[in-house]
Amino acid sequence: MHFLRPLVRQRRTLFSRQYANLRADPGKYVTVLKEQYPTDQMTNITPTIISKLPLRLHTQPSHPLSTLRALIESHFPTYAHLSSLSPLVTPYQNFDLLSFPQDHPGRSVTDSYYVNKDLMLRTHTSAHEVDVFSKGTEKWLLTADVYRRDEIDGSHYPVFHQTEGARIFSADASGMKEVEEDNARLLNHLKRSNIIIEDVPHISAANPCQPAHDPKHTELIAMNLKLSLNSLMLHLFGGRVGATEEGPLRVRWIEATFPWTTPSYEVEVFFRGKWLEILGCGVIKQATLDNSNVQNKLGWAFGLGLERIAMVLFSIPDIRLFWSLDSRFLSQFNQGEITTFQSYSKYPACVKDVSFWLPENTSLHENDFCDLVRDVAGDIVEDVKMIDDFIHPKTNKRSLCYRINYRSMDRSLVNDETNEIHSQVGSRLRDRFGVEIR
Ligand code: DAH
Repeated sequence: MHFLRPLVRQRRTLFSRQYANLRADPGKYVTVLKEQYPTDQMTNITPTIISKLPLRLHTQPSHPLSTLRALIESHFPTYAHLSSLSPLVTPYQNFDLLSFPQDHPGRSVTDSYYVNKDLMLRTHTSAHEVDVFSKGTEKWLLTADVYRRDEIDGSHYPVFHQTEGARIFSADASGMKEVEEDNARLLNHLKRSNIIIEDVPHISAANPCQPAHDPKHTELIAMNLKLSLNSLMLHLFGGRVGATEEGPLRVRWIEATFPWTTPSYEVEVFFRGKWLEILGCGVIKQATLDNSNVQNKLGWAFGLGLERIAMVLFSIPDIRLFWSLDSRFLSQFNQGEITTFQSYSKYPACVKDVSFWLPENTSLHENDFCDLVRDVAGDIVEDVKMIDDFIHPKTNKRSLCYRINYRSMDRSLVNDETNEIHSQVGSRLRDRFGVEIR
């Protein structure tokens, strides 16, 4: 499973039906960040998600995500540092301005949270690229909370944080000279460090240069992107992830595709025997710069997932911990310091199954199931798995069974309490989707 949960990803075919939200009541309003908005067929934002919007963990002093944001910012001292943009964006900003096709799965209500058809929660920090470039900002970082509907487990949470970064140069001799000088400086810095980089060609048939660009310029820009990010990886992981006695830091570049960049790449870092996907990036498409009214420039952009990196740097074992208000978690961290999290004891898990018959001609998207469970149980749900799916040969009715793993991070759950919560999951399923609990 990818951490960045790429916007293009494998669809689960079993749950392919579109799900307009059954909570939406036309003529009704939903309050989001103190403002009221009319709901419609697309509305699927939940109370649990609404409650996360004001928290902005990346700006909470001493929070690991805030320390990581500041660490990234300190590596790009001459860039503008933005971190207070509202999570509410239009689908036009989140998708259209970045050349996402109309039928892109990321647009569906099963993948993204909508306030209504005209307003959604950003699914990535790239949603602000055009706005920031339009203001004339040429070198910038932007950190923010982003929202995607997903399953529930130890490394997936429907809210996470990203830092977007971008830099553009003049598309002329003086701009290219600036790139060359920066490349020489970065190369020199990296040469002296203990880092092994597996690279891919800057341009290939599958990862082409743009028609409007001189391939020589694209090569220089791609190289500047790679050098800037390799040195960021060294700044973040070097000396921590075995860039010293345990061996060098290993970074690998992979060809990728994003609707608003080409050539595009992903970066992975080797950590505890596994390659971790850290970021996506590329040379910004001309269409994106045109949408920003930026002329005669070219450059690069990247988007990096913070939780994945923070889990590694601070040894935080479960993504839910970032949301913990428990002082045993929060008191362990000081702004600007990377310290190893000391786990407090793991409380016992309480596993419960729920099986039900679906009404005829209905299906249930796994993300709808997960949002319902989160709304009832909050962060005491650790993991949700579908363990059975069958169609009765005679009646043709479909039955599903989900296994929910309940575990609090800060106390022991009493069985009665878990039973009560679990039975609420059942009644909500009945009320909202008309299922018949078995
Ligand atoms: N927005 C992408 C994601 O969330 C990451 C990304 C890829 C950002 C390429 C970029 C970029 O700026 O150029 O998966």
